[in-house]
Amino acid sequence: MLAATPPMGWNSWNMFGAAVDARIVQEAAEAFVKTGLKDAGYQYVVVDDHWHGGRGADGRLFPDPQKFPDGMKAVADHVHSLGLKFGIYSDAGPLTCGGRPASQDNEEIDARTFAEWGVDFLKYDWCHAEDTRANAEYRYSRMSAALRATGREIVLSICEWGHHRPWLWGAKAGGQLWRTTGDIGDSWYNVIAGWGGVLYGIDSIGFDQQRGLEAFAGPGGWNDTDMLVVGLRGRSKEIAGAGCTDSEYRTHFSLWCMLAAPLMIGCDVRSMDAATREILTNAEAIAVDQDPLGRQGSRASRNGMGEVWVKPMAGGQLAVGLFNRGDKRLALPAAWSDLEIGGRYRVRDLWAHTDLGVFDWAVRAELEPHGCALFRLTPEG
Ligand code: GLA
Repeated sequence: MLAATPPMGWNSWNMFGAAVDARIVQEAAEAFVKTGLKDAGYQYVVVDDHWHGGRGADGRLFPDPQKFPDGMKAVADHVHSLGLKFGIYSDAGPLTCGGRPASQDNEEIDARTFAEWGVDFLKYDWCHAEDTRANAEYRYSRMSAALRATGREIVLSICEWGHHRPWLWGAKAGGQLWRTTGDIGDSWYNVIAGWGGVLYGIDSIGFDQQRGLEAFAGPGGWNDTDMLVVGLRGRSKEIAGAGCTDSEYRTHFSLWCMLAAPLMIGCDVRSMDAATREILTNAEAIAVDQDPLGRQGSRASRNGMGEVWVKPMAGGQLAVGLFNRGDKRLALPAAWSDLEIGGRYRVRDLWAHTDLGVFDWAVRAELEPHGCALFRLTPEG
């Protein structure tokens, strides 16, 4: 099964936007190996918008010769030589969001081109397409059929921003993940994008915008909460936002893990600071995201600015997230009654990497502003 657990990787957009080129992508792949991201499970190295040169007389897309002087297959080969997978971007309309040539009515030839290059993952955007549900189902199905016809296993990442509730039809249309919201910004709260629209903050996408979608996620089909901004620190060449604190980035990562969301890194992995690397390679948090049961977590209770989240995991274990959405420190309990469990549970702190002991009614945490604690509960006896 493709995407039996949520896809993990890196995408060029959040940090580099239109400035993406072959060197950046190849060095990002090398950094996966050097920094431990590959060992942590990150796999897909994805080139987003603005790689294009044009569409040739033969009807085929070709990359910008300045940015990708050796062609796209050379980049894919390099990524594959490191034991990683390669992804690319197109759009279901006539043009991409960045105004580059896209795949509408060229689905078959473009799928063949991508397969020949060695593409393993296609992010398929929705700008300039006729914005109806019927067209969305038609266009995404047509591209997934074209990808299947190539005989290559290619993950299809549906990116229509939740306009037509893709969680209802995305899997049937052949997608393995579907964006549920507009684009993320490098910010806790929403910010205004360069183009005048809104980029959603971590708080809005994570805590509010996924509610009610839990039933639609599972092995082979995931709600996509957009790419991570962990480690961007306000340095993006493309997306707005002044950056976040370590605590906020940790909360962002914890929430995405609780949501069983795809974990697509967006920062410059070649120059990650120590805190960023520690967050992105937290194996115990990643194990929550990648749990084989594939259940999307949800809010179990709310207490002022505090929220307790729960995610059922394989073997009767539970992941429990305690979150502080407020600007003041908070002592927050997670009561078994809110988690709908009873009895004795062994509790492990997945950020401190320590066992806290056995508890039988509740567990609590002291939370910094916008901070969190992430626990794993294992039934005792
Ligand atoms: C849309 C997508 C983004 C990114 C850009 C590229 O906004 O939602 O993730 O791919 O297009 O132009």
